[in-house]
Amino acid sequence: MAEDHFGERVAERYDAGEAEMFDPAVVEPIVDFLAEQAGDGAALELGIGTGRIALPLAQRGVRVHGIDLSEAMVARLRAKPGAEGIDVTIGDFATTRVEGTFSLAYLVFNTIGNLTTQDEQVACFQNVAAHLEPGGRFVIETGVPGVQRLARGETFRLFDVSETHVGIDEYDLANQGLVSHHYNLRPDGSFVRSSLPLRFVWPAELDLMARLAGMALLERWSGWKREPFTSDSAKHVSVWEKKA
Ligand SMILES: C[S@@+](CC[C@H](N)C(=O)[O-])C[C@H]1O[C@@H](n2cnc3c(N)ncnc32)[C@H](O)[C@@H]1O
Repeated sequence: MAEDHFGERVAERYDAGEAEMFDPAVVEPIVDFLAEQAGDGAALELGIGTGRIALPLAQRGVRVHGIDLSEAMVARLRAKPGAEGIDVTIGDFATTRVEGTFSLAYLVFNTIGNLTTQDEQVACFQNVAAHLEPGGRFVIETGVPGVQRLARGETFRLFDVSETHVGIDEYDLANQGLVSHHYNLRPDGSFVRSSLPLRFVWPAELDLMARLAGMALLERWSGWKREPFTSDSAKHVSVWEKKA
């Protein structure tokens, strides 16, 4: 079972700490895209968290089922209006099975990287395929590995500096590993550190995982408004289709 890095201490400040990710200008294009992919079917969110995407998607009339490891994150979701219409299963999304079939499964906000081994990421694609109807879609939003920005021999990259947050990624190139260190300002003026282990993965490797699971790439964009994916893109939104 994967380790839960989103316990009470993270969950209690997740929505406030990620406030810009809850901005309707960020959320609405994601929900538009996912609602279109779901069509008339149901959606499965892997790593549903506090419901940033699931709640507005359910408000659009899409039936959403979520999987998450963190009781603390899901408790925040359950306390929000509209959550009563969303089923959540506590478990590891690489292996947990839920009832029903889905026209859409989605995994946003770099969360594929929370599976820190290739085996777990491969298992995740296979688990998704087992839940999808033929022709169903799997959507992932994740960063393109930022290794181009590292000078040769360097392992640390500063990715955010503000009054309240400092973020530093620590790369382990040989093992395709990354630890994302976050220093967050507390009300007493001190900074608290949390460090999240991740596995960075290239789009082509994800395509191969999809193929192993009986899916094929349908679309790849650099953003939710279907911005072109190019050599300069820092992230991608990819859609794979389960073969009929
Ligand atoms: C960055 S948060 C994203 C939450 C939500 N999808 C969003 O966009 O705000 C990642 C979520 O995935 C969950 N998670 C990470 N690894 C997981 C795993 N292996 N199985 C189930 N949930 C996992 C965490 O508990 C957390 O709630």
